[in-house]
Amino acid sequence: MAGARGEFSSRLGFILAASGSAVGLGNIWGFPTQTANNGGAAFLLVYLVLAFALAYPALMAELVIGRYAKANIVSALQQVSNSKASRFIGTLTGFAGIITASLILAFYGIVAGWMIAFALAPAASLFAAESTTDWLTGFSTERNMIFMLMTTLIISGGVRNGIEKWSSRLMPMLIILLLGLIAYVMSQPGAIEGLKVYLLPDFSRSIDLQLIVAALGQAFFSLSLGVGTMLIYGSYISKQENIASLGRTITLIDIGIAMLAGLLIIPAMYVAQYNGVEIFDAAGNLIAEDTLIFTVLPALFDTMGGAGMVISFAFFVLMIIAALTSSISMLEAPVSYVSEVHGLSRRVSAFLVGAAIVLMSTLIVINFTELFGFVIAVTTRYAQPLLGLMLCLFAGWIWHRNQVLTEIKAGFEQAEHSLFWKIWPLYIRYVCPLAIAAVFAQKVLG
Ligand code: PHE
Repeated sequence: MAGARGEFSSRLGFILAASGSAVGLGNIWGFPTQTANNGGAAFLLVYLVLAFALAYPALMAELVIGRYAKANIVSALQQVSNSKASRFIGTLTGFAGIITASLILAFYGIVAGWMIAFALAPAASLFAAESTTDWLTGFSTERNMIFMLMTTLIISGGVRNGIEKWSSRLMPMLIILLLGLIAYVMSQPGAIEGLKVYLLPDFSRSIDLQLIVAALGQAFFSLSLGVGTMLIYGSYISKQENIASLGRTITLIDIGIAMLAGLLIIPAMYVAQYNGVEIFDAAGNLIAEDTLIFTVLPALFDTMGGAGMVISFAFFVLMIIAALTSSISMLEAPVSYVSEVHGLSRRVSAFLVGAAIVLMSTLIVINFTELFGFVIAVTTRYAQPLLGLMLCLFAGWIWHRNQVLTEIKAGFEQAEHSLFWKIWPLYIRYVCPLAIAAVFAQKVLG
């Protein structure tokens, strides 16, 4: 089986795939509004510290375990275990990761389906295809299936011909679209006001625990941690690559694109305000979440006349691309398990798991009020940080330290004398588990 295993063709191939996983709706949608509502640059500062001090070490834990084991999260955690008990816990953690990845994909697919609708609806209405427009904006489940089908088809293509090929096509498009949209929005009246809110720190907002909790959750979600996606992508990295530097690059790209997205979303909201659109909620916060994407921004595009239609299309295509390169990594986590452990072909595994996730999405859509927010909260607020904590414990305490070092030294000979090796093991053993546990305790108790 080892010989038949996929591998990224190059360093760049991995970087595009892994940053495709990291850069998603969390960057373009979540990060900018969290920043604006949590004191602008003050939040940014906390976020940067947490991303480098906690999320980067946790990302490294996943990448190193993955490349060592060359396997899905369940088999990988079994391999680094050193006793019956840790093997059992590893198996449980692995399964929890796969289930969490599937549940995240179930809600992510719904949101991405809305993006498809909002990208296509203006064009449909232009051609007066009223029934099509109604279908597109009617929040039905079919578009979710279109998105899931795209995700499944890419994953059934394999590591090089699916994940790497599509990430390499889509990520450059994402960057071009993002930069183009920023340039346009910045030229509009009102944009500078938004830029100030985004970038100038609001010192009246103290850095409280709540802000730290929000920033940590955002960092873990954004780097796709805890659910085995980075672990499985790590398992496709060649032994010749310097894994510490790859992890750093992914972290930098993820943060960089989140910050860039802030330069688009926040100024766009103030342009909308300038054009007469309400951008604050009753509590005086900037409107966030679904109302921002599906009400405020479309209202803004409406005020822009003919250009608005192009901008709207470009914006929702940007969101679809960001979602797709992330969703394929989510699907790869369970698919790699099913194909490696149960011996099914990649194609069959992809379609089986894809169908199961469509079913989950449909259940969520049918019980939308009860399930949608609930699934998001359970997976991203609780499961992801907790699983991240478990992976740190595996890399820091259970797996033999010499084996960890040997794995990092492959492709990074001087690792033993590097700053990375002086700091990272301490982080993974003490700092990350304690910090995540503290944040988690605060969430549960407070
Ligand atoms: N990182 C993705 C985003 O920011 C979300 C994600 C979470 C992807 C978990 C994979 C696994 O949108």
